[in-house]
Amino acid sequence: MNFKEEIKIIGLRGIPLIKKGDKITDIIIEALNKNEISLEDRDIIIIAQSIISKSNGRIRNLNKINPSERAVEIYKHIAPSIRSLGLPEKDPKLIQAILDESKNIIRSEHVLITETKHGFICADAGIDKSNVGEKGIITLLPKNPDIDAEKIRITLKNKTNKEIAVIISDSFGRAFRIGAIGTAIGVSGIDPILDMRGKKDLFGYELQTTIIGQVDSLAAAAQLVMGESDEGIPIVLIRGYNFQFNEKSKIKSILRKKEIDLFRSPKDEKFLEILKNRRSYKFDFASKDVDKKVIEECIELARWAPSAHNGQFWRYIILQKGMLRERLVDKMNEKLRYDLLKDGNGEEVIKGKIEKTRNTFLKAPFLILLCLDQKELEKYEDTERTHNELFLGVQSISSSATYLLLAFETKKLAACWYCAPLFAKDIVKESLKLPKSYIPMVFFTVGYPLKAVKAPNRKDLKEIIYEPRILD
Ligand SMILES: Cc1cc2nc3c(=O)[nH]c(=O)nc-3n(C[C@H](O)[C@H](O)[C@H](O)COP(=O)(O)O)c2cc1C
Repeated sequence: MNFKEEIKIIGLRGIPLIKKGDKITDIIIEALNKNEISLEDRDIIIIAQSIISKSNGRIRNLNKINPSERAVEIYKHIAPSIRSLGLPEKDPKLIQAILDESKNIIRSEHVLITETKHGFICADAGIDKSNVGEKGIITLLPKNPDIDAEKIRITLKNKTNKEIAVIISDSFGRAFRIGAIGTAIGVSGIDPILDMRGKKDLFGYELQTTIIGQVDSLAAAAQLVMGESDEGIPIVLIRGYNFQFNEKSKIKSILRKKEIDLFRSPKDEKFLEILKNRRSYKFDFASKDVDKKVIEECIELARWAPSAHNGQFWRYIILQKGMLRERLVDKMNEKLRYDLLKDGNGEEVIKGKIEKTRNTFLKAPFLILLCLDQKELEKYEDTERTHNELFLGVQSISSSATYLLLAFETKKLAACWYCAPLFAKDIVKESLKLPKSYIPMVFFTVGYPLKAVKAPNRKDLKEIIYEPRILD
């Protein structure tokens, strides 16, 4: 028997408005009776998410939501493009509800594309404002639609003795086409996909990559009967679709992993990861050699930092292990000894600090010195502007230094920024025979790490964003 020649899509009429606590299986059985339909093995029941959410009490009153600072920030960011496109306003309370339902906000422009806590990528975390009835009431997606589908399937099986499948559906927009489409968000009894790989096509060729999203196709077909607005048909029966029964099926099994999802902009995420993961590494390095070419590639990236009037005042000196580095560090330590003595430190303390400095700067596979080349700074007659120009130089080389540290992070290299050369400028210049216009500023130790470093605390946003008070 070939079921696929005819598939029936039957909307169940006469379903009452669903309230919290209603039993969806009882509603389905009553509706089947009213519609004079008896369940058969391999029937598929498609249920609109909205009635599952309502029966589970997954609704919220917007008036009772207190939007967070983040929700207000997002509101301010998206409101202009929403207005310019004439779309309905998304107030901060709704944005807060969306945030509460999301793991990630993937895009925030005129729409909020979210990754829900289940892992679905959809607009507004699947929150629905239509077909709810009361003003200010929104429905949230069910917490675990796979479990809801399974419970309904098992209860229906116990009551009717029929081996059926259940799909919970919602309508999701799509990235490249206008128009929402029925999409399965929970399944039971049917595999989400029909894997055709290894099967033969019409001409006998073996299919290599074909995987059919069968539950989404079924949900989309059911949507034609359910409608979106006031049709009031939240339950649809599909009969005649030939599928392999699988009581272990889960929609989660077809959620594409972030790493292979080309449209999730992994580059953005990777970039944010790099920003957050970069750490100052102040421990022993692994014995693994570092290729000088990799260091040069990182310095190549550091050239792209912004600089005042594009002066690019940064100069890098790469110091590999060897005599030159030893002599430099020993000379710097003479100055350190002198400074520490002047501060009244005892021999024990001085010895300890010198030993630590030797360890830090001599053991690192690479030591990189960053200098500011004053030659490129603008010249002024007055001291204030001359001083400010020097500040600009320092700010500019600092941005290059930051780029460099981030570039190291991309190469899985660990590094730390040390200010020691600043305290021994002349010695560094003299030891390395640097041009007169160079001001030694920073040492970077670089190598492969031996261990992970915990991130030190960051100040709260409130502490670092100063809100000026406007007095009238
Ligand atoms: C301008 C500057 C100078 C620094 N000088 C030193 C230093 O001399 N010694 C040191 O151990 N760390 C130094 N650091 C590293 C800081 O301690 C480190 O960046 C800070 O603790 C934050 O840790 P994180 O970089 O892992 O986020 C310096 C960092 C900067 C930006």
